[in-house]
Order: sequence, then C-alpha cells, then structure tokens
Amino acid sequence: MAKTLTAGVFSSFKVNEKSAHPAYRQLYQELRASILSGRLPSGARLPATRVLADDLGVSRNTILSAFTLLIDEGYVVSKVGAGSFVAHQIPEDNQIPRRGHASDAASGEAAWPLADHELSQRGRALARMSFSSGPSNPAAFTPDVPAYDAFPLDLWGKIISKAWRNISSDVLGYVDPAGYWPLRVAIARHVRAGRMVDCKPEQVIVTSGSQQSFDLLARLLLDPGDAVWIEEPGYLGSRAAMLAAGARVVPVPVDAEGLNVAEGIRIESSPRMVVVSPSRQYPLGMTLSPDRREQLLELSKSTRAWIIEDDYDSEYRYSGQPLPAIQSMDKQGRVIYLGTFSKSLLPAFRLGYLIVPKFLLQGVSTAKAIMDRHPPILEQIALQEFMEKGYFASHIRRMRHLYAERKNTLVTTLRSLLPPEVPVIDAASGMHIVVMLPNGADDMLLSRLLSDNGVIARPLSPYYLTEEVKSGLLLGFAAVPPAGLVAASKRFANIVTEYLSSENLIEPAELTEVATQ
Ligand SMILES: Cc1ncc(COP(=O)(O)O)c(C=O)c1O
Repeated sequence: MAKTLTAGVFSSFKVNEKSAHPAYRQLYQELRASILSGRLPSGARLPATRVLADDLGVSRNTILSAFTLLIDEGYVVSKVGAGSFVAHQIPEDNQIPRRGHASDAASGEAAWPLADHELSQRGRALARMSFSSGPSNPAAFTPDVPAYDAFPLDLWGKIISKAWRNISSDVLGYVDPAGYWPLRVAIARHVRAGRMVDCKPEQVIVTSGSQQSFDLLARLLLDPGDAVWIEEPGYLGSRAAMLAAGARVVPVPVDAEGLNVAEGIRIESSPRMVVVSPSRQYPLGMTLSPDRREQLLELSKSTRAWIIEDDYDSEYRYSGQPLPAIQSMDKQGRVIYLGTFSKSLLPAFRLGYLIVPKFLLQGVSTAKAIMDRHPPILEQIALQEFMEKGYFASHIRRMRHLYAERKNTLVTTLRSLLPPEVPVIDAASGMHIVVMLPNGADDMLLSRLLSDNGVIARPLSPYYLTEEVKSGLLLGFAAVPPAGLVAASKRFANIVTEYLSSENLIEPAELTEVATQ
C-alpha cells in the first residue's frame, strides 16, 4: 500500500506574499518540482487536502486548485475514496529515452521500460530528469555543436601520440584530482588574459566538462530544499544538476539586461545559489548588464549566496567588447567560474574547468576525486601542449571568423524568407540564434514537423520552467557550411510559414510570397 507523505515533506514551502504568482500556483510549482526531483516519488500518496491546508496555513481551495492543475497535467492521479497519488507516468517520462539514445529505436531495438521499483529514491529522481544527451550530429541547425569539419584532427592526433610516446612514469598512476598541473597553469593564463578572471593556477580544477562542474557544486554546496535561482528560460543541464541534488529551483525571469535580479529578490530573497550565464544568456543570448552584475554581487554579499558563472562560449564574440567575468569583480570569494572546452574544441573531449575561491579547493578536489578521481591524463597533457604552443588561440581565431560568416549567412537568408511575425534575433556571440514565433504557435510541434523534414530546430519553450513561456526555435549555425545553411533555411522558412498560416497566426498572403521564393 502506498505510504502517505506527511505535510512535513513540504515544510520548506511558504507562500511568498510578494510573488507575482497566486498561492495555488506557487504550491503547484513546489509540488511539480518535488515530483520531478523525486522528493515525491511515483505512487506516493499526497496528504489529505484539509491536513495539508492546516499544516501550510493556506486555504483548502489553494490546495485543491494546485492539485487540480497537477491532475490536469498528469503529475498526480486522484482515486475516488482513496486520495491523490503521484502518477506512475509523468509527462516528462515521454521525453526521456529510457536506455541508450534515441538511435536505439531507429536501429529497431526496443526501448527497455524503466524499472522504477528497482531504483532508490535518488535514482528515481535521476531517471526522471528531462535531460538526456544523445548524439549531436552536425546537421543544420543543431545547436551547441562546433564545426567538427574545421577541427585540426591531424594535428591533435600528432600531439596525442607525441604525448603518449613521451609520457613520464609519474603520471601513469592516479594523478592530482584537481588536474594536471601544467594544464591548470595554462587555463589560469587563458582566463586571466581573456576574461580578466582573478586567479592563481591552484584555483583551477580540471573537470570532465561543465555538466560535471554543476553536479559537483550542487552536491558540495547545497542541501535538499535549498533555493537556487535559475534563469527563466535557462540551460537544462544546470537545472537538471540542481534538481538532482534535491534543490528547490526558483525560476527568475530574464529581460533585455539578462537575469532580473530585483524580480528574483521579490520571488525568493535568500537563495543559496544563483546560476547565471552572464556573457551570453542561454538560450536567449543577451549579456548581463553592468548594473545587474553589481546587484548580483550585492545580493551574494548580503545573503552569502554562491554565484555560479557559466561562461560556456565567451570565446566566440562577433561584435562589441566582452564584459569581464563577474568573478573578476568579486571581493567576497562567492563567485565560482565555470569554463568548458566543449565549444572551443569538441564536446566529446569532456574537458572543462572550475575556478574556485581558495577556501573551497580542498572540498572541491575531494568531491572530484570521489566522482571520478580525475579526467584522463593523456587528453590533459595534449590540451596543455595545444594551449602552450598557441594552437588553441589560433583555432579560436579561425573559428570566430568561420562562425561569423556562417551566422551572417543564416541571419540574412532567414530574414529574407520569413514574414515579420517571425523575427530572427541576431547573436552578438555564441553558436546559435533564436527565431521567435507568434503567441499561440506550438514550437514543440513545429520542431517535430521540421525534424520529419530533415531540419533540426530545437524548441524554446522547454527551457522555461513556469508556464509563462515564449515560443521560438533555436538554430545552431556553427556546424554547417554556408551552402548547407541556405538550403536548410529555405526548407525551414517554407515549413514554418505553412504551419503558421494553417494556424491563422500569419496572413496567408505572406505564405504565398514566401513559398514562391
Ligand atoms: C549554457 C551551457 N553551459 C555549459 C555547456 C557546456 O556543457 P559541457 O561542458 O558539459 O559540454 C553548454 C553546452 O551546450 C551550455 O549550453
């Protein structure tokens, strides 16, 4: 028989009187996040509405409205006479490949059902995360992938074999979990010069990419239920790591200046952590303004919140001067800077780094050792050589030119093909642009339609956690040469305009005009 959860499970929940959202919506968000994180496991019975209303000090109507919304959306099922239960299949279950990758289905292998009952509570939470990273083929317009065709594979191969031939016996056992010392020196030099990051090589911890960095920080710095501000919309990888650690993620809207700090304080004034992408907001692309940076530092000074600065692709800026990293302005040691080689080199290398305040070094190194001891030594040695000899800097310079050309081709082509209701947002930096869709457009459906026609366009709405979503499509431009981008843009524009006019979201006349181009 299902165990009834006591209202104690929700003891961290308090209605925020200053929130823009009514109480039932806040409770709904809390319950949904608890279901997604596994704190409310599948099949668990929810407390009776009266009991919960008394315990939380809210009206029974508030509880009923939150439950109704969860039932309507499929997170909770209600059984007459028995109560309300967390559903065995929640909406996100449909988005998670259960085993391996989507390609298993393509190869005819049946997906294995999830043996929910075999998993720990933490395991269920992990398996339910709507985050999976399958293969990312360099098709038009796969976002987040660099130009595989332009990576100097031969040179890399030579550096790797030389590193292997000359390898010293001191690095054949376990090495320092914080990383290969000469690589830490090279990374410190790179971030000091390029991002004005204030650090010594000792403060650099080499990780297996930002995903591991987020996971490590969440485990080390958060307790279950701690409030973490995330950007709304925001990066799914950091959100998943925070949820997996049992954090209470608090979506804070972004506007033209990036994360809206004042709004965040109104929603949750004392976060334990803030995850932010200041150089280029992911996925919308704005830069966090100087005022907002000051406000964030002020907040971390007064509340001791950690600021996690996700600086994932700042190497690629096409116009304007980059602002220095927030880390460089921090006097309190509350900013942790994250970098990755997934964009500047290749995602499959799985190499990234953290720059941490000195007093965290010991904890972060130990946590890293517990996770996987350290990243493979050979790649660390090769990367150090690649950086030291200037190949890294020249690769970035070449890619900056290449991507600028690819981006300009994509933006110009799409602008000439799409109607004004579908604005194409140019990018000052990064590797993708965003095409916004009119209100009412279903970007998930459109993304599927496009994918059926061989065009990859990732929907924007899943990057939102609340329901105040905007509809749009993310288009990566880095991975494909201009001719491929132009050909795919034509298919894209035809499918998008046809869909929008069939939904009466644009004038049919504009469709005719576009479709004949
Ligand atoms: C916002 C953001 N942060 C970080 C990363 C890098 O992740 P990783 O280093 O785990 O490949 C990505 C990759 O797409 C990203 O989009």
